Amino acid sequence: MCGITGYTGFNQAGPILLEGLKRLEYRGYDSAGIAVQDESEIKMLKATGKVSHLVEKFEATPDFTGVCGIGHTRWATHGIPSDTNAHPHLSADGKFAVVHNGIIENFAEIRAELQKYGIEFKSETDTEVIVQLLAYNYKGNFKMALMKTIARLEGSYAIGVISADHPGTILAARLSSPLIIGIGIGENYFASDITALVSNTKNVIDMDDGEVAEITPEEVKFYDHAGREINKEIRHITWDIASAEKSGYEHFMLKEIMEQPQALKATIEPRVKDESIVLDELNLDMKKFNRIHITACGSAYHAGCVGRGIIESLCRIPVEAEVASELRYRDPIMDEKTLVIVISQSGETADTIAAMKECRSKGATILAIVNVVGSSIAKLADYCLYTWAGPEIAVATTKGYTTQVVLLAMFAVWAAGEMKTISQGAYISMVKDIMRLPERAQRALDLNSRVKTMAEKYFDNSSLFFIGRNMDYAVALEGSLKLKEISYLHSEAYAAGELKHGTIALIEPGRLVVALCCYEKLLDKTISNIQQVKARGARVLAVAHEGNRAIFTEADDVLSVPVTDPLLVPVIEIIPLQLFAYYVAKKNGCDIDKPKNLAKSVTVE
Ligand code: F6R
Repeated sequence: MCGITGYTGFNQAGPILLEGLKRLEYRGYDSAGIAVQDESEIKMLKATGKVSHLVEKFEATPDFTGVCGIGHTRWATHGIPSDTNAHPHLSADGKFAVVHNGIIENFAEIRAELQKYGIEFKSETDTEVIVQLLAYNYKGNFKMALMKTIARLEGSYAIGVISADHPGTILAARLSSPLIIGIGIGENYFASDITALVSNTKNVIDMDDGEVAEITPEEVKFYDHAGREINKEIRHITWDIASAEKSGYEHFMLKEIMEQPQALKATIEPRVKDESIVLDELNLDMKKFNRIHITACGSAYHAGCVGRGIIESLCRIPVEAEVASELRYRDPIMDEKTLVIVISQSGETADTIAAMKECRSKGATILAIVNVVGSSIAKLADYCLYTWAGPEIAVATTKGYTTQVVLLAMFAVWAAGEMKTISQGAYISMVKDIMRLPERAQRALDLNSRVKTMAEKYFDNSSLFFIGRNMDYAVALEGSLKLKEISYLHSEAYAAGELKHGTIALIEPGRLVVALCCYEKLLDKTISNIQQVKARGARVLAVAHEGNRAIFTEADDVLSVPVTDPLLVPVIEIIPLQLFAYYVAKKNGCDIDKPKNLAKSVTVE
């Protein structure tokens, strides 16, 4: 949820930390802070609100100097957003400062214990216990004190610590929260995400759970949980700084929507050879499974709802899709004959990780569909398929979602081939349609200016509905979420046939209903539902296939998208809805890339 970064080297740390925090701001943005170690003291600056407020404070503080420091941008979990609760947190003796991403579950117990020794706490955060306990444990050996401290912590953490007595040294540790070390020449870094480092170095080392890193300007040493030094491999990042910047777009979200043809291409092309889907990463005997569970959160769950339809249709195996936050506590019935597919853009979502562990404990095999290379979910899964979408910075996912859907479709075709539930002709036709998705996505993007006009027409609806059937319903879920999360308008997705069982009572003159009409097998039924809402005064914006003329007499406005296979409809149909959400939010003056109360990577329960 939060973003952390650190630097030690020969340059002033302040500007480097602030630059890193700006890039990490999508992970949380209710307050931010930096601390530097200078001479034998720790200097600290904090600001409530966005990183830009912290930058203003920094610019007004010329003596904020130091070549070793840590920084944090916060998404509040314990205690309101305020300067006091903002990280870094300082030990009572002023000797240590810490930044932390994650949750310390046993913080209350540790806090009470330390208070008994007379240690005073300043903030309401769980994080402060880390630094106070560290100072309490410190007997001259910085690393030993940290190892002793983390041995007491329960929950999740990625932490960075500096010490007034250890110039130039940063200690970092992780458990169930992402942490990456950046390797430079005479200077080294850490961050919760590569985006914070990529302008400085492309050589990174992924930290694993239980490990501690000792970072100095000259070298980085790694230790396992028992304090034994270990060797780690350097990974070279292939994408450049432009991928983490807006490249002339006003918002990351628009840039990422527009990048979908390339993202789809990157996900599809390496996996198709001679009209066959080749998933080298999967050495799976599909015949061993008698059911599939898909689990994820938010938009990734919506991708899972699409995946359920595609896999069931092609593989004729029962598939369930369930949000991870429910599945993890439901004691689900599954065993070694169950394949669990977990989907996550970030690969760090706490509920998804917990659901995955629960399923594993019941003997299920775990296949992950993940975007971030080396993320926790990718590492924990038995098998991993990467969506090669590139970095996704906007909080609302777009290319993350469409690449998840296409990868699920590719998996379904591949699995159907393995299980012999698909004819040769149908297999080849699906592969061809999948290969054409990037070009069709581009054509859907050509609707950009028309969608903008629609958004300008309908932006002031205070409450609206997305309806559809089958695949269209799965897309309605995602279209509605996209709109509400960035424009703050009330919006609901409904299976079109369910409206008459209650929700239709909310349809009144002028209410906007977005009707998804690309799943042509059920088009007549959806048209009946359009007529029902129109009869009650609703205005209808339809998304339909090019060539569908009938819809023009039913809906007030129509967005026509390229025709594709019914099972692949969601990849194309969601594109005008993403653009619609974007332009409605823009027209309403919302902060599109950083919607209120949300954060990109949800590493808390
Ligand atoms: C919505 C959105 C969220 C995420 C959800 C899961 O636009 O981005 O609903 O889809 O938090 O995140 P990941 O995919 O990182 O597990």
